Parts: sequence; structure tokens; C-alpha cells
Amino acid sequence: MSSRISRRDLLAAGGAGAVALSFGGLFAGRAAALPRGAYPFVAGVASGEPAANSIVLWTRIALDALGRDAVKGQIPVTWELAQDEGMTRIVARGVQTATAADGHSVHVEVPNLKPGREYWYRFYAGGEASALGRTRTAPKPGQSPDSLRFCLASCSNWEAGYFTAYRRIADDDPWFVVHVGDYIYEGGPGTSGVRQHSNAEPTDLPAYRERHSQYNSDPDLLEMRRLFPLIPTPDDHEVENNYANLISQVDTEPDQDPKVFARRRKAAYQAYWEFMPLRLPQHPQGSGMQLYRELPMGDLANVVVADTRQYRTDQPYGDKSPADGPDMRDPKATLPGIAQEQWIVDRMGASKAKWNVLAQQVLMASHDVVPGAPKGYSTDQWDAYRASRQRVLTGIADRGTSNPVVLTGDIHQHYAADLLRDFDDPSSPIVGSELCGTSVTSGGDGSDAHEDLSENPWIKYNGKRRGYVRVTMDQRELRADFRTLSAVTTRAAPASTGASFTIQDGVRGLKA
Ligand SMILES: [Fe+2]
Repeated sequence: MSSRISRRDLLAAGGAGAVALSFGGLFAGRAAALPRGAYPFVAGVASGEPAANSIVLWTRIALDALGRDAVKGQIPVTWELAQDEGMTRIVARGVQTATAADGHSVHVEVPNLKPGREYWYRFYAGGEASALGRTRTAPKPGQSPDSLRFCLASCSNWEAGYFTAYRRIADDDPWFVVHVGDYIYEGGPGTSGVRQHSNAEPTDLPAYRERHSQYNSDPDLLEMRRLFPLIPTPDDHEVENNYANLISQVDTEPDQDPKVFARRRKAAYQAYWEFMPLRLPQHPQGSGMQLYRELPMGDLANVVVADTRQYRTDQPYGDKSPADGPDMRDPKATLPGIAQEQWIVDRMGASKAKWNVLAQQVLMASHDVVPGAPKGYSTDQWDAYRASRQRVLTGIADRGTSNPVVLTGDIHQHYAADLLRDFDDPSSPIVGSELCGTSVTSGGDGSDAHEDLSENPWIKYNGKRRGYVRVTMDQRELRADFRTLSAVTTRAAPASTGASFTIQDGVRGLKA
């Protein structure tokens, strides 16, 4: 792919210039709210939520990298989608109004597209053109592509390192990118990182917008968003560390009051919506946001996206990990909420696809983190919600779900694990497998050490460096490459494969 096209490049290019000229009448007079000569597309472009016949195109009208120079009023934004990179075979175009209420974000759901093909797109406002974006629709229903590759990312902390993993994902040319959360971090500026957050810990909408704006100024992130459709779901740090539903983590902030935290979460969800290429059903309503959803990828795969923060019961034992005890087996405790548990089981079970992917946030495989005979588990992961895990895994198994594969982030390390029907009985059957991707940057460079997994024999691999997971599926097998960066505190590090596993169609369990 060509590198990002600057405004100057675009204006210098005859063909693209001709397109811009043809819209001259449209911008003239209607975009008066934009200062003359200002470039309104510093936030770049993105696409997301690939369906066989439609795609979401995204941009946000912003004049500076931190979004501090507030855009005022309603801005008409013209968009075009073409079959070719030269934007000569336009298949759809329209005008959408960017409003202050939605932070001047633009979410266009383009209908009537052809399945399984690339498209290019661009936005125009105030006489200026955005970068040229590329995207791809999902495979045709009832048909399977020969193969499908996607990448899994999570946990990109601005201060902990450079987002090189996003650049390496782009090098792999995936069909789409699944991001399972901690897309931003909410902490205030620190002193030990390679770069600093621009504002104090956000609690209101302007501050969350600035935080997202800053992350969205990273060139590697901009490039990944420009080139590949995104399938995002947030974890905790998009709002606040380890929150549970409307309960903040235990700290000294005013949001210990659930009413205060509800306002904070509403602001955070609104900012998340504004910066993500999501569909209208995901637009926040009240203090909530409908994030669990399903994306079919032809007959080859079905992607079920879950939300394990918004509906969960509070973490047991005051969220002081590691812990072990009866509260972690409370049948009333739930990680996705009872309604979403049932929805996950139903969607996974009803799917006719060969590979059934569940994209979610926290480690599902049991993970005793205390060495020796005593046991101890994270209070924030599925281990702390065992009855909930049991309902989901048993449901997936009993519904005869084809080849279940769980995608995970959150813990800043690579893990490859088999998911047992009953983790209290290590001889119980394998229901599916879990691919937990390490962080994009959180934790810094990491090390080449590997965890001793002898007390958790269903976990087959651990890696402590940063990176992402590359997943390739065809009719016969799924292959997961745990991609590893040599460093994130220096720029442009190369990626290598720390380990690879395959799953054969119809055979439960990872193969090294
Ligand atoms: Fe994280």
C-alpha cells in the first residue's frame, strides 16, 4: 500500500484534484463554521464493523492533534467510496452532518456493497480532503473464502511505549483487526514512560475526548485505522481500572459514589463511541452502550463480540488479587451479565460457521498465579466468576458449537490455553481454545522469560514481550502466531513469532 496521502499530495494529484473540484460547489457556503485554511482531518480516517453488504466509515472533524481547538456548529462532511484506489469508480457518496453533540465524529454506514472485496474511501469538508482510507467487506453469506487472516490487539498505553505493534499488524495485511480493550488508558501523566499523557486523569467528556485524540495522533495507530476495518470492544481502562458495572475501583476519587461514577462512565462511553467506527445501535443510550454483537464472516467464521465490564457483578474479595474462596463460585456472580451469557451461548450455538470466535476481554482459562500448593486467582477474570464461566462453557459445548475459539487481552502477556469443561477436573473434555494476546505497549519492553505453567497444564504458552496475535483460518485449520516485538520503548522494532499453534477442524485443543 502507498503511505498516507497528505493534503498536499492529494491536491497535487490530478485525478484526486478533479474529484475535489467536482465537490467544490458542495463545500462552498455550507462549511462556514470551519476556519479558513484549517485542515479538519487531523484525526485521520477509519472503517469498521465489516458486514457482507456494508461497512462503517469514520472520521472526526478536528483541527489539532489534541482536539483542543474546538470545532463549532454543524459541519457537513461529504464522503465517497470507490472500487479503486484512484477513486475513479465511485460506488457510493453522501453528506453527513458532524454535530457538536457527537464530538463532530462521523459514522457512515454504507449499504448495498459487494461481499468480500476491498473499497477505498475519502471525506471532504471545508474544501479539504481527508487521507485515503481502505477497507474490506465481510465474506458472502453461505460461502467461504479460501482463507481469512485477522489480527488481535489490546492494551495500548501511550506512556509505556510506541504503538509499533499496530504498524506490524498493518505489515501483515489482515482482513480486519479485533481490539479487545484498553485502547486508551485513563491515568494522568507519569514521569517514567517514553511519552506523557497530555491531561490529568479524565472524568468528564472533554477530558476523555482529549485522551482519545492524543492516542489517535499516533502515526502507527492512524495507519492501521486507515487501512483495515476495526472490530473494537472496550475493557476497563477506557473508563477506569477494574470497574464493574456502575462500581468504581476502590480508591479516593469522588466516583466512589455510584451516581458520580455513572456520570463518568457515560462520558467515557460517549468518547469511545465518538472515536470508534461503530454502528448506530452501539451509540450510547443513557449511561449504557450496547456493545455485544455478532459479525458473520461467511461460512468460515462467526465473530461474537462480548462486553464483560458493563453488566458484571462486583469483583469478590474487594478485588484484592490473588484470592481463592467460595465467593468466586457464587452462582449469582456473573461476568457478562446473565442476559449476555445466554446471548453468547445462543449465538455461538446457532452459528453454522466453521470457526466460532468469541472476542472478549479477560482470561477465561483458569490461572493459579500462586506458586506451590496454595492457590490464588485474579479477582478480575473469569476465575472469580466460575459459575458464570461454567454456564458459558457448558452452554457452548452442549449446543454443539463448531470449533470455539476465545480471544482475550487485558493481562499484557501472551497465553495460549485450552478451555476445559470443568477446570476442577483436569481430565474433563476440552470445549475450545483461548488465544490471549499480549499488550501493544502496557508493561514496557517485557522480557524473554516464560512463566512456569506446570500448575496450569491447560495453558500451553506464555510470552512476556509486547505484540499481538495473528490468526489465519481456512477450512482445515486455524493457525495462531503469537507475534512478539523486541522492544516498544524504542521506535520501529521488528516483530517475530514467539510461538505458533494450530487447531484442526473438528479436533478440540491446541497443537504446538
Ligand atoms: Fe491493559
